[in-house]
Amino acid sequence: MLQHLVRPNILKLKPYSSARSEFKGNGNFTLLDANENPYSNGLNRYPDPLQLKLKKRLSEIKNVPAEQIFLSNGSDEAIGLITTVFCEPGQDNIIILPPTFGMYRVAADVGNVEVREVNLTPDFQPNVDAILAAADDHSKVLYICTPNNPTGNSMEAERIRELLEKFKGIVVVDEAYIDFSEQESCTNWLDKFPNLIVTQTFSKGWGMAGVRLGTTFASEEIVGYLNKVKMPYNVNELTQWIAMQALENQAEMQARIQTILQERKKLEAALSQFSFVKKIFPSDANFLLVQVENPRELYDFLIEKNIIVRSRANVPMCEGSLRFSVGTEAENEWLVSCLEAFTALSTPQPPPKGETTSLPHLSNELSPFGGGKGVDNPILKFLSQATPRTATVQRTTKETDINIQLNLDGTGKGDNHTGIGFFDHMLDQVARHSGADLHVHVQGDLHIDEHHTIEDTALALGEAYAQALGDKRGIERYGFCLPMDDCLVQVALDFGGRPWLVWEADFKREMIGQMPTEMFFHFFKSFSDAAKCNLNIKAEGTNEHHKIEGIFKAFAKAIKMAVRRDFMNQQLPTTKGIL
Ligand SMILES: Cc1ncc(COP(=O)(O)O)c(C=O)c1O
Repeated sequence: MLQHLVRPNILKLKPYSSARSEFKGNGNFTLLDANENPYSNGLNRYPDPLQLKLKKRLSEIKNVPAEQIFLSNGSDEAIGLITTVFCEPGQDNIIILPPTFGMYRVAADVGNVEVREVNLTPDFQPNVDAILAAADDHSKVLYICTPNNPTGNSMEAERIRELLEKFKGIVVVDEAYIDFSEQESCTNWLDKFPNLIVTQTFSKGWGMAGVRLGTTFASEEIVGYLNKVKMPYNVNELTQWIAMQALENQAEMQARIQTILQERKKLEAALSQFSFVKKIFPSDANFLLVQVENPRELYDFLIEKNIIVRSRANVPMCEGSLRFSVGTEAENEWLVSCLEAFTALSTPQPPPKGETTSLPHLSNELSPFGGGKGVDNPILKFLSQATPRTATVQRTTKETDINIQLNLDGTGKGDNHTGIGFFDHMLDQVARHSGADLHVHVQGDLHIDEHHTIEDTALALGEAYAQALGDKRGIERYGFCLPMDDCLVQVALDFGGRPWLVWEADFKREMIGQMPTEMFFHFFKSFSDAAKCNLNIKAEGTNEHHKIEGIFKAFAKAIKMAVRRDFMNQQLPTTKGIL
């Protein structure tokens, strides 16, 4: 038990509790407890305060029980909360091992907690005896960063173990860069050392600094204290969702890490050629600490070239050093060519266009909400799944009984049974090529003929599109499509609210499969009426089957274009104020 290390007010603290976290049960609830907006857009509800799904998945990957995982808004938040839990302001102290990451001190300064510094040894290892000598009964937290920022090296496991055994307070092992290192994670020691906290992050190896997700591993008891003091919803829904997606793609993350490691090697080799480079410190991380002869001039020269590196020139034990993050191949090559220019004091060629990066906070190109790369953008993908555009239409008359289920943002699945094989095939084309999930089940009076079945299905389908599109905010509205197959087919479509059909497609055969060709016109006319859309269809060609299949495919593609949404521009695509 670690109660003796915890601040008395935290032990006594009654944390904030939401109605939802007090109540446990299964079922479909009517949520009237949290003063949320009830209208679903995928983000109208508060996120899971304990992020249980994400922890369950992380637990499988990290081999640490979910109860021993704490998630935070970056590991910076965890560092702040550790100080809050264990360090009494004006009384307790933390021990840090310079040169090291700056946030340990900042968190302590914010909390009015004394910081004791015990420098690393000249080979950047913890000085165990000096640390123990510096500690007293008020030394609550010791921070060990491995691989260490800014030096890049890993700390020897034996020294960490000795400190875990002998230091009387909490030992935080900050493994922000562990994914780049071959060092074993200290999470394997959680069972042995109740005073161990391991922090990791999605910001480095996972390449997701923008989502702000820190992962902390510790005893259930420590995780309990951290949960007590955190803000109730410290990890937002988008972050939880995107992290889940990332965890399913570990191979990609590993491949990127390998690329960064190769680039680090190349960069190290290139840097070592420069006469002004005095020393490159061995790195287990995604950066290199490099001691140079003239750090200030080099730093200023690089700034002139719009290259920002981190100066550690005035940090004790890193004197004269700059820290270079490993960039992309192009960025590293650009850096090296600038360094060559620095040596020759000439002007290098600027990098090829498109290979430099603007500052994310100065340009919205990199922002998930800017740049317009909607299709690949995980947040926009999330939003498109989170705000459903679905419709169910049941249409029953004496002649037909029709059930349609439509999801505009589906995966192209068709489940269509009208009793007319060829018609089913055409409806499957609509689903597949528009990316919608479409279920059309019809019991029609086929013993009379196909007319009612086809016409009524089109009416119900049009109604389903009108319903699923809702107020049409954000949609593209128009869709166009041009040649397909051996036929020239054009389908232009406008979900502008006014029904109209232009039909220029002649069929010489009376039937295709069991579908009368005269019903094609009827189908699109009925759809246009019910969906209130303008359809302009033209087709020419010789093969009748291809011609109508081309029309349905082009129709589907036109729908796909027209229903696409731009989430960042939730305007009605009209100047009239209503569609
Ligand atoms: C050693 C170390 N720990 C923690 C962090 C912060 O990580 P996060 O982005 O998760 O807050 C950094 C960031 O640079 C770091 O270098």
